[in-house]
Amino acid sequence: MKQERFDKIIATQFNISRKDARIAIRRGKASIDGKILRDFGALVDVNSNITFNGQALKYKKFIYILMNKPKGVLSASEDKKRETVVDLVPEHLRRHGLFPVGRLDKDTTGFLIITDDGEFAHKAISPKYEVYKKYIVTLDGKLTEDMVEAFAEGIVLADGTPCRKAELQILSDNVACVKICEGKYHQIKRMFGVVGLGVNELKRVSVGGLILPENLAEGDCVELTLQEKELIFANC
Ligand code: URA
Repeated sequence: MKQERFDKIIATQFNISRKDARIAIRRGKASIDGKILRDFGALVDVNSNITFNGQALKYKKFIYILMNKPKGVLSASEDKKRETVVDLVPEHLRRHGLFPVGRLDKDTTGFLIITDDGEFAHKAISPKYEVYKKYIVTLDGKLTEDMVEAFAEGIVLADGTPCRKAELQILSDNVACVKICEGKYHQIKRMFGVVGLGVNELKRVSVGGLILPENLAEGDCVELTLQEKELIFANC
């Protein structure tokens, strides 16, 4: 049995502030097993029968949202001026504390997880866990077998930073599939910079064993099941 404070449960699960949760609970808007509970500090079994404003609760400790990130949107939780990926999360999936797992550049598209689970995010990002991220890259010049070798040996960036070994697969003259398990700032663009190519388009298509669904339009989101979430750590 997992217990949490009543106001915390109502606030996180119904996406309202703690203060609003307390006010609503005091006003008798929340019940447990059919009985109104006004004590917002009470410890409550998260799996009990909780309703708020007549709506039944299905408790979820954390949420995992997969977005097909569109171009022009910032990988951040909030920004004073610019639109962020969290701004694009639809109302029914919103919660306090959402953030993107790692950063895609503003002009990069594709696979992006948005969650409120910090431990999960750390595991997905940290090179220590070797979760591979796969990108489709369109370049401004011709790919060569020498570049494949250079990526496999480990590129050293222009500022001297060494990268781990990476897999570069040539798909056509100027389109490649790249697999890396780190996320240094502008890493793919800087790796190609070292071999003399510029990146025209960059799309992340998978993380670990979870693939971006082809029918998920840019800007759209889908909530992951726990099984789908775990696929991220199935190293493919
Ligand atoms: N590498 C980049 O250069 N940009 C991204 O957005 C992701 C990886």
